[in-house]
Amino acid sequence: MSPQRGRAERTQDMGEQRQATFSVWRGDHQTGKFVDYKTTVSEGMVVLDAIHQIQAESASDLACRWNCKAGKCGSCSAEINGKPRLMCMTRLDVLDMTQPVTVEPMRSFPSIRDLVTDVSWNFKVKKRIKPFKPRKPDAEDGTWRMYQADVERVQEFRKCIECFLCQDVCHVLREHHKHDEFAGPRHFVYQAALEMHPLDVEERLGQVKGENAIGYCNITKCCTKVCPEHIAITDNAIIPLKERVNDEFYDPITKLFRMFRARPKADRKD
Ligand code: SF4
Ligand code: SF4
Ligand code: FES
Repeated sequence: MSPQRGRAERTQDMGEQRQATFSVWRGDHQTGKFVDYKTTVSEGMVVLDAIHQIQAESASDLACRWNCKAGKCGSCSAEINGKPRLMCMTRLDVLDMTQPVTVEPMRSFPSIRDLVTDVSWNFKVKKRIKPFKPRKPDAEDGTWRMYQADVERVQEFRKCIECFLCQDVCHVLREHHKHDEFAGPRHFVYQAALEMHPLDVEERLGQVKGENAIGYCNITKCCTKVCPEHIAITDNAIIPLKERVNDEFYDPITKLFRMFRARPKADRKD
């Protein structure tokens, strides 16, 4: 399809049932290959529908992980035409159906089989992150007082569905394989949610800088572009965390200032 063809024209192609080809990865990273499957597609279908049809019609042993089919469980992550996406949220009418559609597993994690990857590394990293530590209640009845703006600021981070598409696209993991040293964008979102929480008093910037190595991130924003929840990962999580790390470890004046005038973390201007 020429790049000039628009969505309307592509949608028209999908109006009736027609044959389409899906080039699906079978095997694992070392021994696999793409296998072409033809199936009938129609308007409204998503890639996961086509994969289910292929399982029903011609490849009952094709492994794929899914759960909600509503973009909420984060389990159907894959690379569709080379781009990290949720299979259940990728409509066929946004793809060029005149060419075979490639569907392959996320490449930053070990393949288990076919489209299923082992993402357990992410859960191990998350377990190491210092948990939420609230300050003492502000009132005798055990309640706290917070500014609404501070509460709203972290809401965005809570939308994460742990699909790990941001981790998949990040070159620090994907190309440089720094899984032992770098936590990745999903975990910076998680740490930002904790660090900017209006009640949290844990000192976590040392971990963000050291064990999780935020310094490896060069703010390419690839992670933000693939996030299905449209979390502004780089602008709202990573850059503010980098600024806090910078203030804490590299700016002697700010550090001195803090020693004499402790201020709540949520109030920091970044
Ligand atoms: S902005 Fe940073 S974390 Fe996000 S993909 Fe680029 S290097 Fe990775
Ligand atoms: S931040 Fe976005 S892309 Fe990354 S795991 Fe969460 S929902 Fe997925
Ligand atoms: S099946 Fe749950 S996000 Fe796709």
